[in-house]
Amino acid sequence: MVAPLAKLTYQALQKGKGVFSLAHKEISLRLLKTMAPDAVVKTLPLKPGTTQALHDAMDVLLERDWQDGEDGIYPTDLLFSGPWKDWAARYPLLWLDSPATWDRLRRRDFQDLPKTINRRHYPAYYLRNFHNQTDGYLSDHSAALYDLQVEILFNGAADPMRRRLLRPLKEALPLLGGGEAPPRPLRILDLATGTGRTMHQLRAAFPAAQLVGCDLSEAYLRQAGRWLAEQPGELPQLVQANVEAVPFVDNWFDAVTCVFLLHELPRPARANCMKEAFRLLKPGGVLAVLDSVQPRDSPQFKVLSENFRRVYHEPFYGDYMADAIETHLEQAGFALLPSETHFLSRLWLARKPA
Ligand SMILES: C[S@@+](CC[C@H](N)C(=O)[O-])C[C@H]1O[C@@H](n2cnc3c(N)ncnc32)[C@H](O)[C@@H]1O
Repeated sequence: MVAPLAKLTYQALQKGKGVFSLAHKEISLRLLKTMAPDAVVKTLPLKPGTTQALHDAMDVLLERDWQDGEDGIYPTDLLFSGPWKDWAARYPLLWLDSPATWDRLRRRDFQDLPKTINRRHYPAYYLRNFHNQTDGYLSDHSAALYDLQVEILFNGAADPMRRRLLRPLKEALPLLGGGEAPPRPLRILDLATGTGRTMHQLRAAFPAAQLVGCDLSEAYLRQAGRWLAEQPGELPQLVQANVEAVPFVDNWFDAVTCVFLLHELPRPARANCMKEAFRLLKPGGVLAVLDSVQPRDSPQFKVLSENFRRVYHEPFYGDYMADAIETHLEQAGFALLPSETHFLSRLWLARKPA
């Protein structure tokens, strides 16, 4: 496609995702108010200017996303990629799932998980219905709907935000940045990979890298495996493990990534996760952590963050909002690289000293 036309197509696609997401959320809220008024959570009114600030931040994000593609950080094809057929086929399931979600909300039951799971295999903080999801992270049904739910939550900007770690990672990895051929494939670990959307972006940006993804959810890993198998290149390795204790030797990986996880961990687990990333990285290796913005860097979105905490079941988000991630990184031994903010995400970069 000719570049200007391709860019317009990308902008139209993103606009379409945004409009679709807003419409979904509006209809969903109206239905909730009608069908289960006692399950509606009180939210704070947005301050004047918040909606405009959101639009502006989204525009900047999408412009960067396009620019990084044009600059060859990743192929521009990536901007259009997604399991579209699966998402279209699964969309009706979101609505069919709503009555069960409303019922749980009404009962204020946030630990309604499949009876078949072995609870001893998971830390207590994990055993809940994060984002009010049916089965928490612990079923194929949940894994099938997760990406759609995240796309809708972020008005279609989830992958553009995930991709923001690719340029700084490429620039911080000296072998690639210097243009020399690496003596062996880069080894990259994605912590809490979920259904593998970050690995999908990593595979496109680092076609020759050895990719490993770890997550506690066997169902999410199964979904990740199915989607990642469709991408060209070496099949990533998927490991079911707690990010606090990943079964790899010390100093193994050149890069570790971690996306949208920290806000779901209690503070001690957050610290353990950063320590584990440090242990797993080889000296000189780079960690890229992408998560929700915090009021300290994005005060204009503080009310949005507070409403997110109230509406979605996010028991550790309040603590996350006040937590200094830089301190965890420094205490783990990392040297900090510059952080960045992109729309509703914050990116922390850190290097294990050589
Ligand atoms: C919000 S999702 C983010 C998934 C993915 N990184 C993304 O960008 O969509 C959080 C993921 O973290 C996983 N998770 C939560 N706590 C974990 C832990 N202690 N160890 C490993 N995975 C964990 C969940 O199973 C889930 O897949």
